[in-house]
Amino acid sequence: MRLYKKEGNSIQILSAPSDDVEKGDYLLVEDTTINRKLITQVIDVQFAAVPGLLEELLRDSTSEEQIYGEDFDPLGVSSHINHIQDARMLICKIRGTIQNDTLRVNSSWLPSRSKSGITKIPINALLAHVGCNKELPINIGVTNDGSPLSITAHDLDGRLNIITGKKGTGKSHLSKLLVLGLVDYKATVVVLDLNGEYTGLGLSTKGGENQYSSRVHVLTPGANFKVSLAQMGLSVILKIMIHALGLPGTSTREFKHIWKTLCQQRNISLEALGEAIKQSGGNMHVRDALFSRYYSLVNSGFFTDNEESATSFEKLFEKTKNDGGALVINLKDVSAVDRQIVLEYTLGNLVKLLGQWKLKSVFLFAEEAHLYLRETYWEDIVTRMRHFGLFTNFVTNQPDTIKENIYRQADSIFLFNFTNGRDLETVSKAARVDSETVKSIAQELPPHHCLLIGKAVNDFPVMAKVRALDIKTMGQTRLFFTEVMD
Ligand SMILES: Nc1ncnc2c1ncn2[C@@H]1O[C@H](COP(=O)(O)OP(=O)(O)OP(=O)(O)O)[C@@H](O)[C@H]1O
Ligand SMILES: [Mg+2]
Repeated sequence: MRLYKKEGNSIQILSAPSDDVEKGDYLLVEDTTINRKLITQVIDVQFAAVPGLLEELLRDSTSEEQIYGEDFDPLGVSSHINHIQDARMLICKIRGTIQNDTLRVNSSWLPSRSKSGITKIPINALLAHVGCNKELPINIGVTNDGSPLSITAHDLDGRLNIITGKKGTGKSHLSKLLVLGLVDYKATVVVLDLNGEYTGLGLSTKGGENQYSSRVHVLTPGANFKVSLAQMGLSVILKIMIHALGLPGTSTREFKHIWKTLCQQRNISLEALGEAIKQSGGNMHVRDALFSRYYSLVNSGFFTDNEESATSFEKLFEKTKNDGGALVINLKDVSAVDRQIVLEYTLGNLVKLLGQWKLKSVFLFAEEAHLYLRETYWEDIVTRMRHFGLFTNFVTNQPDTIKENIYRQADSIFLFNFTNGRDLETVSKAARVDSETVKSIAQELPPHHCLLIGKAVNDFPVMAKVRALDIKTMGQTRLFFTEVMD
């Protein structure tokens, strides 16, 4: 391999077909004269543009047709010509410099063309060299060169991550892998499961229990997940009323008044609330507005007056405190309005418990969050709630539903295949990597392969095949043609 050209942080390397270099591989350009090494990553492999090559190829193809079978290479130069015709140009991006064994993000120097040696560097050797943390490893899968790739649980701790890619590429699978990886280290995880896909986390592929069974708690709103008004503070119920059910300002004032009266009487229940609204004096419109919201609460089936059957978040988290655990909120078959109610309750409660230090921190995994997360929550989750100890991982196949500023703040992105240019454009706005890398590599990622970008890999983008899991897959698309007909 020979160094050919450098422009900004791009570098072009001439390579022979036998060099066996693929997209995503890392190359070390070592300038022996000054003992500096440039770390570069191949983002595209092209044919070398040799002057006169087109003419040569054309001449070749015509001569092949005319004198087929005869020795047309009396001087024996064809192997040499073939070598030139097959020469490759590797388009690489500079990722850093190693000088005196320390890594610098510096690409301002120019290695010698004549005295530089270029070698392929295994990804694990590179990550070890740049000082990747080895504690609490979560095995992701294998890299292109066949070596195992792990990130550490620290990479999810206190961070904001995004898992994105087109439909069916394996996003939810990776997200499950991360959830279980965190549970292994006794973390508390909350999953907002839109399609009921995570309900099988505690079951093995064959259907029996697996090692996580006792630590996975599936909560289905209206079934085994019901809450009582009495446990709910005013702030949480107000969030439900205002944001999920759109209660206007004047009615909110009246609602607060009613709630406070009920509090004083120590009689907070659905029944008492209905009665109090009926009894409330004042404006008829206000009463109607309150009643319509009240019936939404009742119809959701999410509330109960029976304290015994009510779910207490606090108790559930108590269970996860020692051994860790995942609370899967199963939002499958839950209507859009009810979803909002459940969400406002869940997030409101999480923030409350975190604020009171009843919980140290929680990892939140949200699938297609734009379908239930209101506008103001986005900013809140990535800025304020992070300081409270709520660390979010968004999973989506529609990258444009996540705002640009959230990409900019994301610490790591797990990128699966995208073919659509617009989607790639959106993802490439992530500040942590150049857009050429994203566009060139993500377009050709096979299913179940992802490109890791950002802090999880110390800003050295790495391609990996995600490993399989021994858990029962749920939420697959129901098909009509399931069996081949005779
Ligand atoms: N690394 C893997 N090894 C084995 N099977 C996998 C892997 N990744 C995904 N799968 C399987 O491929 C199928 C699709 O994966 P998954 O549901 O994770 O895709 P997705 O990207 O979340 O799709 P969607 O956009 O529809 O939600 C699933 O049946 C899953 O079990
Ligand atoms: Mg999915």
